[in-house]
Amino acid sequence: MAELGADRAMNQKLFSRAIERLPVPSSVLRRISRLLADPETSANTIAEVLKLDPALSGKVLRLANSAYIGIPRTVSSLPHAVVLLGMKRIHGIVLTSELLKPFHHSTSLPFSMDRFRRHAVTVAFIAESIGRHLQRYDALNEHELFSGALLHDIGKLLAGAVDPDAVSEIHKRSRKLTIPFYRAESDEFSHTFLGLQLAQRWQFPTELSACIRGHHTAACFPELHRMVSIIHIADIMAHLLGYALYPDEKTPAIDDAALSAVQLPVERLRVIAEDILKQQEQIGSLLDIFDGER
Ligand SMILES: [Fe+2]
Ligand SMILES: [Fe+2]
Repeated sequence: MAELGADRAMNQKLFSRAIERLPVPSSVLRRISRLLADPETSANTIAEVLKLDPALSGKVLRLANSAYIGIPRTVSSLPHAVVLLGMKRIHGIVLTSELLKPFHHSTSLPFSMDRFRRHAVTVAFIAESIGRHLQRYDALNEHELFSGALLHDIGKLLAGAVDPDAVSEIHKRSRKLTIPFYRAESDEFSHTFLGLQLAQRWQFPTELSACIRGHHTAACFPELHRMVSIIHIADIMAHLLGYALYPDEKTPAIDDAALSAVQLPVERLRVIAEDILKQQEQIGSLLDIFDGER
């Protein structure tokens, strides 16, 4: 027992140090976050800030001209690209792009970074689609869902980079016991808890933090139950479509309370899933943004 206690203390130190060592949000991202808090902010203003990061501006323009948006005309102005993509979606893209950067070249990750990115982007597409299908969708919008979905499993990256052996052990245990990955984790080092610590360090808004902490236990977030429930359902749908982190991963069970919070018939969810399978080109365009070339 004493040894186990010492191990845990060491792990906590390792994770705390790793979180401290991660870069803080760039000045571009901080400025975009501040600007978005003001409802009067225009696409022009966001474009002006984006221009300060030429590599990122290039990617945003590329995305606006890709199958992701799918319009026949060429988009050459950054403000136009911001309007097309949406300001909050741009924020989600910048945030995710920055958060993934330190992990792109991590050679020790015990899972495929490609699969990680594809899972995140597929969940984002599904979550947005659920948002669009909901009528009287008042308290949040699709673009906030998009950021929450992209980042929901960010704690797995941190766990994989800091303690790859422990993550491999969790994966092995989940396979042996035929339980979902999250149920094979210990509470104190779960990916949702580690993700929350990261969210706190980066001062994420409450909604994003709730998506990260609560996507496997949506009922714990009554005030944001609908949003977290959408991420919960989108995550499970991505598993069912074959886009889990591990190819042999056990799909988590769907929470009935989350289903009733979202209030979409299962038949509608099936239609959404079929649409997602047809959107592989759009998903590929968004994946290019997070491909680690920067
Ligand atoms: Fe998760
Ligand atoms: Fe997930």
